[in-house]
Amino acid sequence: MTLITSPESILDITTAAMQSTENERLKTLIISLTTHLHQFVLENQLTELEFEKALQFIVGIGQATGKNTNEVVLAADILGVSSLVSTINNLDLDGGSYAALLGPFWRKNAPLCAWGENISRSNLGGQPIEVRGCIYDEFKKPIAGAIVDVWHSSPVGFYENQDDQQVDMNLRGRFETNERGEFFFTSIRPAGYPVPTNGPCGELLRAQKRHPNRPAHIHFMISKPGYKVLITQVFDSTDTNLDSDPVFGVSKQLVGEYRTDAVSGVCQLNHSFVLQAGEMVFPAPPIP
Ligand SMILES: [Fe+2]
Repeated sequence: MTLITSPESILDITTAAMQSTENERLKTLIISLTTHLHQFVLENQLTELEFEKALQFIVGIGQATGKNTNEVVLAADILGVSSLVSTINNLDLDGGSYAALLGPFWRKNAPLCAWGENISRSNLGGQPIEVRGCIYDEFKKPIAGAIVDVWHSSPVGFYENQDDQQVDMNLRGRFETNERGEFFFTSIRPAGYPVPTNGPCGELLRAQKRHPNRPAHIHFMISKPGYKVLITQVFDSTDTNLDSDPVFGVSKQLVGEYRTDAVSGVCQLNHSFVLQAGEMVFPAPPIP
């Protein structure tokens, strides 16, 4: 019989109780997580009040998650964990394609759109934008028939699900690449926006004196059977918050050149992506 003899002994007793986990990967992950948690508590000599606060935070992010918001995803984002997972699982391929976190606003089944279609379906004003690019494989061969799923915020920084002024699925669309692997869509230029600050994550950001404003960006999710789904974002090169993104999404490779045409006044973005061969697996949508 092994009983507790010291604070440190609790870890051994706890992990011993987990040894018969059948799923090897689950066993490894939970034992590792438990070990890190125990070390964290010991290292910081966590007080009971602090422990209670931590549990309240976890309960709080669950309670703040609802139909249109996902505070749990946001918590992973503002702690840099989402960005870390996305970075270690996606190689930076020659050609500069890089992954970025999914974020809390992707919706499944955005409208399938025609070549060049305008995804700005509500009258919001703003600067028109034309977005073009090409999807390649690892050998620089264009991929025809890839689906480029895009979503972005309005010129004042709201996604349609956060804004009564916008129709359902506004500023969202799916485009298929042509035989040369190209895609083209039109919209209005997105603005940066604050991550939601009315829940426990906002409280944490305020305590850390961090601003909540994401640099302006367009989200992309690119897929085709036989390739790993590429989830990424392309950031506005003119945004002043590129190096202080509250969710740590910006890498050098993902800063896009948003250029305004002097004659037409239209913003133009050209950005291409590389897909890795692999299994096409979609993430669970953070909101329906
Ligand atoms: Fe976003």
